[in-house]
Amino acid sequence: MVTLQVLTTDDWPLWRALRLAALADAPHAFKVRSADWDRGEEQRWRARLELPGAYHLAAQVGGRGVGMVSGLPGTADGSGRTGRTAELRSLWVSPEVRGRRVGDRLITAVEDWARTSRAELLKLAVLPGNEPALALYRRHGFVASAEPGALLPGGAGRELVMVKALAASKCS
Ligand SMILES: CC(C)(COP(=O)(O)OP(=O)(O)OC[C@H]1O[C@@H](n2cnc3c(N)ncnc32)[C@H](O)[C@@H]1OP(=O)(O)O)[C@@H](O)C(=O)NCCC(=O)NCCS
Repeated sequence: MVTLQVLTTDDWPLWRALRLAALADAPHAFKVRSADWDRGEEQRWRARLELPGAYHLAAQVGGRGVGMVSGLPGTADGSGRTGRTAELRSLWVSPEVRGRRVGDRLITAVEDWARTSRAELLKLAVLPGNEPALALYRRHGFVASAEPGALLPGGAGRELVMVKALAASKCS
């Protein structure tokens, strides 16, 4: 059974293992490269988990990491609209458990976290041509944004920015 665990700073070794596995498995899906991270010291890994207001999840099977995602708080969405924006980052699911809705669960968990954080918009960036991720994000209601994504190295175009408006939470 796949379980989801919210990570704290002390979980940085699990975060590091997952991130390096993701970069090695799916270099086509991420702008950064393993070489950018694999010499990182403990403090560098801890720093990501220490970002104020951030949310980090690991998917595990029998205590072994098989997936990850982050939710990061943001303040601007680049579209000129006011309101709070949160960002979904670093989604990865190990090939051994793909197609079993682990990606679904990780995205839904970040959406729930973003709503609880009173974000009005959830955004993400995806590399052009990453069809499995694009299909999954579209199924979750993300749409392409007019915001230009970051330029990719070697003239390979830009990241595609996708956004999802979050329904206002009900107040009692
Ligand atoms: C994208 C990813 C997270 C999906 O994880 P997952 O756990 O397999 O996803 P789920 O089981 O929840 O959902 C599967 C959905 O993914 C999409 N998908 C999976 N494989 C696909 C493929 N080969 N082609 C197109 N869509 C595909 C479909 O939308 C599918 O939904 P469907 O079964 O209704 O067609 C996983 O493939 C992955 O980690 N890829 C490498 C890293 C990556 O691309 N991360 C995103 C960075 S922006």
